[in-house]
Amino acid sequence: MASLKGRDYLKLLDFTSDDIRHLLDLARKLKALKRAGASHRFLEGKNIVLLFEKTSTRTRCSFEVAGYDLGMGVTFLDPASSQVSKKESIADTARVLSGFYDGIEYRGFGQSIVEELAEYADCPVWNGLTDEWHPTQMIADMLTMQENFGEDLSGRTLVFMGDARNNVANSLMVVCAKLGVNYVACGPVQNQPEAWLVETCTKIAAENGSTILVTDDVERGCTGADAIYTDVWVSMGEPDEVWEQRISSLSPYQVNARVMQLAGPDAIFLHCLPAYHDTKTAIGAKIAEQFGLTELEVTDEVFESAQSRVFEEAENRMHAIKAIMYATLSDEPIEGAE
Ligand code: CP
Ligand code: NVA
Repeated sequence: MASLKGRDYLKLLDFTSDDIRHLLDLARKLKALKRAGASHRFLEGKNIVLLFEKTSTRTRCSFEVAGYDLGMGVTFLDPASSQVSKKESIADTARVLSGFYDGIEYRGFGQSIVEELAEYADCPVWNGLTDEWHPTQMIADMLTMQENFGEDLSGRTLVFMGDARNNVANSLMVVCAKLGVNYVACGPVQNQPEAWLVETCTKIAAENGSTILVTDDVERGCTGADAIYTDVWVSMGEPDEVWEQRISSLSPYQVNARVMQLAGPDAIFLHCLPAYHDTKTAIGAKIAEQFGLTELEVTDEVFESAQSRVFEEAENRMHAIKAIMYATLSDEPIEGAE
């Protein structure tokens, strides 16, 4: 396995299947160390900066806690408290921050922004979510799959229900193809993934013994699946006006008891979170008032069910991000506490 030290982490298409398995191994080892209460301040003396142009709970907290656990200094910057984009270009920001920091995380809009940041920075740049991709989420998701189904995921089937062309769905198709997991994008035609990506992933999947299926048929898509995954119907950065159309086209793809029944009793439910499964959020309440729907992409019943692994998945974000930072900042092997 080639060392990942010094590499940017921008999208999973840039990484081999072995690289991804290496990140999963590291995440497992780092999780075991954390669970054992063993100090793992392996990156003492280093500093990282987190740039967020969109809001976050999990990703921000994961980078912060993972950074502190590894012994690093961490700075958080948002658009309101920095010059980024308003008064200083991405290229200039990258060169300034490279002088202070050993790694830069970026969450924002177009993928081209994080790519430009990486081009001008001379330290690793980590993509904390763009409109197109969410690659740190994938290591957490596959770690959660491994914890449920064993280390070798080949031959398992993961179904993404709903807006099957968003950043999370795109990234899941790539990671599944790379790990030999069968991937099903299940949604209406207008929310299905772009043809070039399906073609690319179908080739990668074939090399790893798995398949990619794009379908608008819920029964065909979900029957016998190992994991049912969904995400919000409207992503950050999209205008509020799209809600009405999305609700009408994506409602048949809500993850509910029937969908989980099609998958079977051993299937698990995954969601990157945050999720609209009740009306206890400002947006959830507003949608309920406007459209009369109290649960959106997933019912409260499934979200709270014994098949749901969403909180384990959320915790795994931190272990995964720690692994990604460690692998790109150091090539010292970690003796696991496993
Ligand atoms: N799943 C995820 O990225 O969550 P946040 O938006 O809270 O970071
Ligand atoms: N697709 C969602 C993911 C949030 C973690 C969004 O981009 O808003």
